[in-house]
Amino acid sequence: MKMTSKPNGHGQDIIDELCVAYGMELETVENYLANASHLDGVRSEVIKKELAADVPTELSHAQLLAHRIKTLGGRVPGSLELKRNQRFLQPPEEPTDVVTVIEGVVLAEENAIAQYDKIIRMCEQRDYVTQELAIQIQGNEEEHRREFAGFLKEYKR
Ligand SMILES: [Fe+2]
Ligand SMILES: [Fe+2]
Repeated sequence: MKMTSKPNGHGQDIIDELCVAYGMELETVENYLANASHLDGVRSEVIKKELAADVPTELSHAQLLAHRIKTLGGRVPGSLELKRNQRFLQPPEEPTDVVTVIEGVVLAEENAIAQYDKIIRMCEQRDYVTQELAIQIQGNEEEHRREFAGFLKEYKR
């Protein structure tokens, strides 16, 4: 196990991964927000409502992460420092293409789950408060994934 120079055992590596998760949450907010407005058609109504309802949830995850980054002595990154990776969740050319958006949401949630998994493992025997936070958020993301995976079954029939 890698020890760090900080007296509380909280390392920069944990802060860095929290910053990655923070950027991912904000990008998710951006794309759920965009798709919640962009989609057209009767089949999109439920999805739009769900995406709009998830925006404040994902934003609250970003807020929790920002608070934890600060508590650990880190610096919360500004917009220009955040990466953007969700090529798969851009509002589709065809606004009735609900399936592409649902698949994008499932992938975004899977990526979030993987990132929290990474943090949970890093924190083992080092930082149980951050670990607990990551477990809690990961549970939310698992619910989101299951919900949208369920929509996908119906929409792809
Ligand atoms: Fe989230
Ligand atoms: Fe989520």
